[in-house]
Amino acid sequence: MKQQTVVVIGGLSGIGRAVAQRAAAEGARVIAVGRRPAPAGWSQEIETASVDITDEAAVERFFSELGALDHLVVTSGPVISSAKLVDLDINAAREAYDVKVFGQMRAAKHAARYIAKTGSITLTSGLLARKAVPGALVKATMNAAIENMGKTLAKELAPVRVNVVSPGMVETGMWGEMPEAERKAMAAQAGSGLPVGRVGQTDDLAQAYWLVMTNGFMTGAVVDVDGGGLL
Ligand SMILES: NC(=O)c1ccc[n+]([C@@H]2O[C@H](COP(=O)([O-])OP(=O)(O)OC[C@H]3O[C@@H](n4cnc5c(N)ncnc54)[C@H](OP(=O)(O)O)[C@@H]3O)[C@@H](O)[C@H]2O)c1
Repeated sequence: MKQQTVVVIGGLSGIGRAVAQRAAAEGARVIAVGRRPAPAGWSQEIETASVDITDEAAVERFFSELGALDHLVVTSGPVISSAKLVDLDINAAREAYDVKVFGQMRAAKHAARYIAKTGSITLTSGLLARKAVPGALVKATMNAAIENMGKTLAKELAPVRVNVVSPGMVETGMWGEMPEAERKAMAAQAGSGLPVGRVGQTDDLAQAYWLVMTNGFMTGAVVDVDGGGLL
């Protein structure tokens, strides 16, 4: 990974930040991308860039200015609340799709021109892609689309490898703002129902992204990192 360039869109927080830190620790040049500026205490080792993944011209400009890269990881995702079909806000659903589904498609599209033949693209879905939960229609269908996108692109963009990581419940800011005690209680409650007895941490996920980025025989895979949540 030394001397390779890794772009992590969504890399300024949560799972993406852990992936960016792991790649930097292994010696890669890492560029973490999001809309907001880097948070306080950001490591000087990791470059940052501001791009809105819903803006195709901005995504295209980012990759053309960057030039050659080896690995693209996309973890950017929208905050969307659960709603049963009859109460669904279709416009909010459309906006969520624009970030999670079309955002990953835009990133792959514009990175593809510059990515090394030995490189990889790793997309992010989520456990609800294959677990039917009332009220989770938008997340379920977005995540299922991404898992299909990964397999289709693994053939279309070959020899570049394309994989998908599917997280289960992982303790990140995506759970929303809440007092620390409340967050811990929620994590304990959710984790107690899983075979591993706990929810995921961002480093659990970073290991899986690292695996699919570096294993040259993995393409078209969907890797579940969910503590057994799908079982
Ligand atoms: N945490 C979980 O329990 C869980 C479960 C299943 C799936 N996932 C999936 O895992 C991925 C990572 O989530 P996370 O938990 O790490 O949450 P997170 O910390 O909120 O990360 C999401 C990132 O997406 C970026 N983002 C959002 N909209 C964007 C846009 N329009 N353009 C560019 N960047 C954008 C955000 O940065 P800015 O706001 O700065 O743009 C943020 O850094 C998401 O796809 C999520 O759906 C998470």
